[in-house]
Amino acid sequence: MDPYLAIASKRDERAYAETPVPTEVRDRILDAGRLTGSSKNRQRWEFVVISGPARDRLAEAVYAPENVGSAALVVAIVGEAGAFDTGRCAQNMMLGAWGDGVVSCPNGIRDADAAAEICGGEVRAILSFGYPARPRDPASRSAEEWSARANRKPLSELVREVG
Ligand SMILES: Cc1cc2nc3c(=O)[nH]c(=O)nc-3n(C[C@H](O)[C@H](O)[C@H](O)COP(=O)(O)O)c2cc1C
Repeated sequence: MDPYLAIASKRDERAYAETPVPTEVRDRILDAGRLTGSSKNRQRWEFVVISGPARDRLAEAVYAPENVGSAALVVAIVGEAGAFDTGRCAQNMMLGAWGDGVVSCPNGIRDADAAAEICGGEVRAILSFGYPARPRDPASRSAEEWSARANRKPLSELVREVG
């Protein structure tokens, strides 16, 4: 998928099909995280794949438990990475996933101590992934059409030129 189309068409999705994410797709998502640049290339993160009873417990530590409880794949970014590095890493994983037809959503962490205990380290981000419950077709519109439809402030409000 063209990168701009992927960026423009990617929405955060909270309704997942029960279809499992195959191991090779999961590994591509994780590799997209691994490949992310970080401050001084320190890569101060681990990617913790949470499933089973730990996933159910982790769901209780986020603001929207069903986002984690119903996801086919849950990945926590754990460690000492700063906010900028974590954001890049998370977005790489989510856009990489979208290229494989897998939707995703970040999760706000309500109970950081519980999340840290479950994941074995400080949790920087919790990402839910899965195939969409409702079929999605990024190619059904152009990137420009996706951009125009997105619920985002217009560039005229966001861009200032200084010179
Ligand atoms: C740090 C962070 C935490 C978020 N936490 C939640 C959350 O707890 N529950 C949720 O449903 N969405 C959560 N989101 C998703 C945002 O609501 C979403 O990015 C925003 O509404 C844009 O969605 P869209 O791309 O579908 O338009 C979070 C996003 C970020 C970046």
